[in-house]
Amino acid sequence: MKSLKILFLTLALLAGALLEAKPRVHIIATGGTIAGVAASASSSAYVAGQVGIQTLIDAVPQILDLAEISGEQLVNIGSQDMNDEVWLRLAKRINEILASDRYDAVIVTHGTDTMEETAYFLNLTVKSAKPVILVGAMRPSNAISADGPVNLYNAVAAAVTPQSQGKGVIVCMNNQLLDAKTVIKTHTINSDSFEGGPFGIIGYVHDGRAHYLQAPLNRHTVNSEFDVSNLTEFPKVGIVYGYANASPLPMKAFVEAGFDGVVLAGVGDGNFYKDVFDAAVEAQKQGVQIVRSSRCPTGPTCLNGEVDDSRYHFAASLDLNPQKARILLMLALTRTRDWRQIQKYFEEY
Ligand code: SIN
Repeated sequence: MKSLKILFLTLALLAGALLEAKPRVHIIATGGTIAGVAASASSSAYVAGQVGIQTLIDAVPQILDLAEISGEQLVNIGSQDMNDEVWLRLAKRINEILASDRYDAVIVTHGTDTMEETAYFLNLTVKSAKPVILVGAMRPSNAISADGPVNLYNAVAAAVTPQSQGKGVIVCMNNQLLDAKTVIKTHTINSDSFEGGPFGIIGYVHDGRAHYLQAPLNRHTVNSEFDVSNLTEFPKVGIVYGYANASPLPMKAFVEAGFDGVVLAGVGDGNFYKDVFDAAVEAQKQGVQIVRSSRCPTGPTCLNGEVDDSRYHFAASLDLNPQKARILLMLALTRTRDWRQIQKYFEEY
């Protein structure tokens, strides 16, 4: 009888502890302006990636009310220096963490310059439905009204909101939640810099909780077939910018350097200047996959519109901008060299 009482008491205590247990959120810091330090609080001159993960956590003690927080420093760089090696380490580390029952969500602190690229890359390579939130800041950590602390607080709030599960990788900036596929950095210096273009935001954070308005429809995370677990490098893919009277030299240089693919940031609906078009036809004949995208900030780059893609075996990036098309082409080329299959990936992801 006495031992039964002890058993019930232990079970009740355990149940109580479980009910009170906060979600466990792991923060991976990679640098950026959120970790930047300015010469003075009012100066616009600053260096990104200076302070470490513990300083970022200590600046927002309120996040401890929302979650059990742990952190690690993966790198401490300005995101202009983000590269394949760091991406591979980051994706593998997130997959390792989220495969464990010990963690409920991951937050990545990141520079804003290439945040949209890292978000989209992770959207295709993370193998978990648990929330993965990218967050940064437009003002360095010691600036007047630095936006890093509130953005980090909102990211933790999003990470612990159950509805954040299964939405793919999310960018949390300036109270807004954005889908990895459509998010774009739109302003060089304003704190209100991130938008979903014509697709809008997918939600917002208010009072320590995420509220969703829509969910991404494209394939991502657990429904993505791209797998980096055995990769040590990626196929090489470059971007050629389109403009009036454009030189074909960059296109030719990529081919000569042995690149596997080139994305065109074309004019209008992904159009080439005629000399660049000739170089692209030649590149495709030599096995370098060409994907047409557009330097226009909005609107799709359509297959077989003004350019007869089927004839030349070019793919069209549809709703992906050039920098994200580059990532999808890089991952696509780990699986196939068939332009039709590559086009299918652009339709699905
Ligand atoms: C960077 O991307 O690392 C610098 C700019 C920023 O984080 O806002």
